[in-house]
Amino acid sequence: MTQMRDSEARVILDTNDKGSYTVPTAGLYPYQWNWDSVFAAVGFSEYDLARAWLELETLFSGQWDNGMVPHILFHQVDPSYFPGPDVWGGIGPIPSSGISQPPIAATFVRCLWAQDRAAGEAKVRALLPRLRDWHRWFITWRGEGGAICVTHPWESGRDNAPDWDAPFAAINPVGVEDYRRRDITFVDEDERPRHYDYDRYLYLVKLGRESHWDEAHIKEVSPFRVADPTMTFTLLRANRDLLAMSRELGEPTDEIEGWIAEIEAGAEQLWNPEIDAYDCLDIRTGQHSGSISNASFLSWYAGLGGDRMLPHLDRIFAATRYALPSTDPDHPAYEPRRYWRGPVWAIMNMLVGMGLEEAGHSDRAEELRRRTGEMISGNGFAEYFDPRDGTPAGGRNFTWTAAVWLAWASPTTERITCPASS
Ligand code: DGY
Repeated sequence: MTQMRDSEARVILDTNDKGSYTVPTAGLYPYQWNWDSVFAAVGFSEYDLARAWLELETLFSGQWDNGMVPHILFHQVDPSYFPGPDVWGGIGPIPSSGISQPPIAATFVRCLWAQDRAAGEAKVRALLPRLRDWHRWFITWRGEGGAICVTHPWESGRDNAPDWDAPFAAINPVGVEDYRRRDITFVDEDERPRHYDYDRYLYLVKLGRESHWDEAHIKEVSPFRVADPTMTFTLLRANRDLLAMSRELGEPTDEIEGWIAEIEAGAEQLWNPEIDAYDCLDIRTGQHSGSISNASFLSWYAGLGGDRMLPHLDRIFAATRYALPSTDPDHPAYEPRRYWRGPVWAIMNMLVGMGLEEAGHSDRAEELRRRTGEMISGNGFAEYFDPRDGTPAGGRNFTWTAAVWLAWASPTTERITCPASS
């Protein structure tokens, strides 16, 4: 069974491959998404390293002059997706969205290099300045004393997590023109964000587009500015990997060391003593979200937190068959089938598992990997899964689920080698 899944996973990657970039899945997501694309590279690295590097090079070809790497690159207009390039009005070299996504690229560039020492060096040398510019953009425009913010829920990748409920309640989405969602023509409405959320997503896009993506303006006026564990922890980890690669190639390191120190200190702002966990901090109100998400457990991936999150991890492992649910099952907003309000996402499990392993919690890392493997092998390559029984949900034939299977969860493929973050 698992070997059949191995070949199915390769077929999914090859089918979603558009030549120089990979779509997450046909129809629902017909463009190049930022962190999806990094996982596509991870998947390709299992059998085609050259194709893996090309994926990342294409992603960085969309980088803006200010360093931002967009969350969507619209290489070829496809009317099956909304909101498309005209709604975003991106200002980069390729039509794009105007926001970014979790910066996991540096970490996986380093993993690819570990597998491709000789040929990889030139690739890494070319990507390093681009990665540095992107990370500097985060520190400059998304940093709040070392905690890293999102200016749109889509930027975090966790689109409709309960973390955004309070900041969204404060938004009155005036001026949003009529629109027609396409996502619910592909996926059951109950598995997607609500219309209430979409009104606010589009309100924030309009605000950015009308400013021509002027970050100083957005920082000043947007009602939505939330420090988020996904961004803070992935950027911290990415900087550690960027530092290691820069050292090895004799590139400057002072600036990167400064960022690491800043985020290590700033991440403490995300610790909510009321729930003894990392969560989101709304910069506009100073309020914590009070919601434990799968992103809360990325602290180990970031090299932070000691054992502080372990009690919650063990509680949630015991509560659900397929950990990690994207929202704590004990939270009142938990919805096990609705996108980021409950379902399990294999990519988050892989990142959390890498962190657990490096922090010396190998048994828990293995448990998470085993459950992820069973979930995929029993239910296929869905976008996400119901934590109670593994029911597949969202899009199917999904690139990043196939990639995580090949590189991490399958018992019959070789696991990706990533140097430990130091
Ligand atoms: C979507 O359209 O659902 C995406 O998550 C936005 O990036």
